[in-house]
Amino acid sequence: MASKICPRVLRSAARALRPARKPQWQSFTTSTSVRSEALAVHRDSSVNNPKIPFKFTPQNEKLIQEIISRYPSQYKKAAVMPLLDLGQRQHGFTSISVMNEVARILEMPPMRVYEVATFYTMYNRDPVGKFHVQCCTTTPCMLRDSDSVMKAIEDHLGIHPGQTTKDGLFTFAEVECLGACANAPMVQINDDYYEDLTYDTTISLLKALQNAAEQTGTTGRESGLGGEAGKGAITGNDRNVKSGNEINEQQASYAVTGVKIPAPGPLSGRKTCENSAGLTSLTGEPWSNETLRTDGAL
Ligand code: FES
Repeated sequence: MASKICPRVLRSAARALRPARKPQWQSFTTSTSVRSEALAVHRDSSVNNPKIPFKFTPQNEKLIQEIISRYPSQYKKAAVMPLLDLGQRQHGFTSISVMNEVARILEMPPMRVYEVATFYTMYNRDPVGKFHVQCCTTTPCMLRDSDSVMKAIEDHLGIHPGQTTKDGLFTFAEVECLGACANAPMVQINDDYYEDLTYDTTISLLKALQNAAEQTGTTGRESGLGGEAGKGAITGNDRNVKSGNEINEQQASYAVTGVKIPAPGPLSGRKTCENSAGLTSLTGEPWSNETLRTDGAL
């Protein structure tokens, strides 16, 4: 009956026009690979490979004993972070040899130390310049124009985030919140915070640091620190750990040569993070019992 109403030719034509059946299998899908190797992967280079020997200085060895004594003896691996920091300050960056030495001292598997060093961005696993300029661009800083600060650094130094100047003086990094949001926008240079920055104050800060380095005759390479990543980082002279006094002495020596470096902190005239518009509360005499009660009940 069906063949009479709808001849076979028409039926097969209709079948041919039907959409093809969906296959019952699915191919594997891939997403774009995330290029985060810079943070997680170590590649041997001429300045950073396990064959380069590293030992802590006798002064730092003493410091290490003091640090380890803060923890129960069975938990001495808890000292991994301060020891890595000490190694970075001595060596200029957290090389694979520094990590291996820390693992040896704390009797930890090296992989456990690598895990810590690769997790925290404060451990520089590549050489950095004499001045490590870290510019915060998280929301509070961004709202107060960290773009201008970034631009000032790029304009003046001619480098982009992740790069080091050819003379090895400056390494530039863009970072997340450094906890000084009340004084945004800000940069961290080595251990110091410079805050309330503008395009102009950033340029003058960088110029002051350049002058200071020129006057003291040091460059990034001469001071045993990094140049371009992977070049000129190690001269064989490890730096000793910098104490607060030594930093002040260093700044004082710049002052002796007639170079003024702005003191760390706000460069806007504020002392700390007080209201820049002046006091808006607590402007009168503080209240006392006498002010509150005049009836003699208290
Ligand atoms: S957002 Fe820049 S210091 Fe917090």
